[in-house]
Amino acid sequence: MIIVLDFGGQYNQLIARRVRECNVYAEVHPYTLSLDKIREMNPRGIIFTGGPNSVYGEESPRCSREIFEMGIPILGICYGSQLMAHMMGGAVSTAPVSEYGKTEVEVDSSSVIFEGVSPKTICWMSHTDYIAKAPDGFQISAVTPVCPVAAMELPEKKLYATQFHPEVMHTQEGMKMLSNFVYKVCGCKGEWQMASFVETSVRELKEKIGGGKVLCALSGGVDSSVAAVLLSKAVGRQLTCVFVDHGLLRKNEGDEVEAVFGPEGPYDLNFIRVNAQERFYSKLKGVTEPEKKRKIIGEEFIRVFEEEAKKIGAVDFLVQGTIYPDVIESGLGKSATIKSHHNVGGLPDYVDFKEIVEPLRLLFKDEVRKAGRELGIPEYLVSRQPFPGPGLGIRIIGEVTAEKVRMVQEADFIYREEIVKAGCDKGLGQYFAALTNMRSVGVMGDERTYDYAIALRGVNTSDFMTAEAAQIPWEVLNRCMTRIINEVKGVNRVMYDLTSKPPGTIEFE
Ligand code: XMP
Repeated sequence: MIIVLDFGGQYNQLIARRVRECNVYAEVHPYTLSLDKIREMNPRGIIFTGGPNSVYGEESPRCSREIFEMGIPILGICYGSQLMAHMMGGAVSTAPVSEYGKTEVEVDSSSVIFEGVSPKTICWMSHTDYIAKAPDGFQISAVTPVCPVAAMELPEKKLYATQFHPEVMHTQEGMKMLSNFVYKVCGCKGEWQMASFVETSVRELKEKIGGGKVLCALSGGVDSSVAAVLLSKAVGRQLTCVFVDHGLLRKNEGDEVEAVFGPEGPYDLNFIRVNAQERFYSKLKGVTEPEKKRKIIGEEFIRVFEEEAKKIGAVDFLVQGTIYPDVIESGLGKSATIKSHHNVGGLPDYVDFKEIVEPLRLLFKDEVRKAGRELGIPEYLVSRQPFPGPGLGIRIIGEVTAEKVRMVQEADFIYREEIVKAGCDKGLGQYFAALTNMRSVGVMGDERTYDYAIALRGVNTSDFMTAEAAQIPWEVLNRCMTRIINEVKGVNRVMYDLTSKPPGTIEFE
């Protein structure tokens, strides 16, 4: 196992994920993790993340000097590299010019970290301070025109550091560098598989939950489905899955979810479906502000769960299928609040459960799918495209009404049907229809119309944190346009959204 010590960097989980991609298990822990705890965890290596501070700041996060003497290989990244330099007697100062973005770095290929890496390689830099002088005994293993120490190392103590970020995709040979660290320096074998995550999670969940009752917020999406099956493996019928049909689901989805998780389905769990459409519509009446809509839907969800929990009796744990991108995008990580994802930031202050369990909190979407396959969940469910908790509520721009829900459901159904029929769904990260708040004039059968415009969206993405609009063939889009306008009452215009993320987001609200 590799421990990623978090010094406040925005890529902390990404580092762990990259290590897991090398089939080596990695966990992120705060930099305050005690040396005793580290010893107990017995990691093969430690990675220090970046962070927003300067090593000279009074409040700056630091670790104990002894960590460098434990004989455990350490890789310091960005702030982590400066911290290593500072604590080992080198000099860190403000760089004359900040380097930000893709930067050509000249590396010493005789360093084990850079084995197999091109002598000049593009790396992602993002720093204002830099290592001005490496500590005594350290060798400089990479430079840039600005950085005299873009990487350094003390091989006899297995200490390595890079000013740039090997974990981000823009560092073209970053995976090579990280895999060199985990395999060649730390001696990891790369035998970890998602199966181990499943096994460990089931065991930990069993221990944590004991004989307690568990309530799972099941939406039928990939995340909550994987979380539910994980829980059902751990505690069987102690688990009750509550599926709230908030009236903001895709067409026929409520019945589909019931078919899989209900009493006719293959899983051993208690399943309750709550039809709460009217309740949600009335709460959303007149509300147009996206964050307010998200909060209302999120809060109403919790209220419905609380009511169900009361009917069941005392419930100890609430399970949610929160995954890592939800956590950072809701501002619970270090980055700014973009949207309150309803299963995280939208949580009301008072929640009538002892504890919330989020077994997928550290995983990225593609890792959740892998876990799902490991759990034997049918492929059609595992590879199902993500659907946000607030559902069509955030795909209807402006006020939500039952009538608008009908329009977007029907348009979305047609769009998805045509995409699958044309075989365009393979590799598409997410595709859906949204109802804009725009009405425009059209003409149908000699009659003037003044109806809504549907926006179609399709994106290519691997991690949902960045995305590009997909190039869907014109004939397919054209067919969708014709069908939507002919078949969906109240719609007279169809558009395709070309925006990438950033600057856009995948959903409209
Ligand atoms: P955005 O719109 O933020 O979406 O680019 C990124 C991914 O997250 C999904 N999404 C959500 N998922 N609760 C969720 O469980 C939410 O509130 C939520 N909002 C967005 C979105 O569908 C996309 O896959």
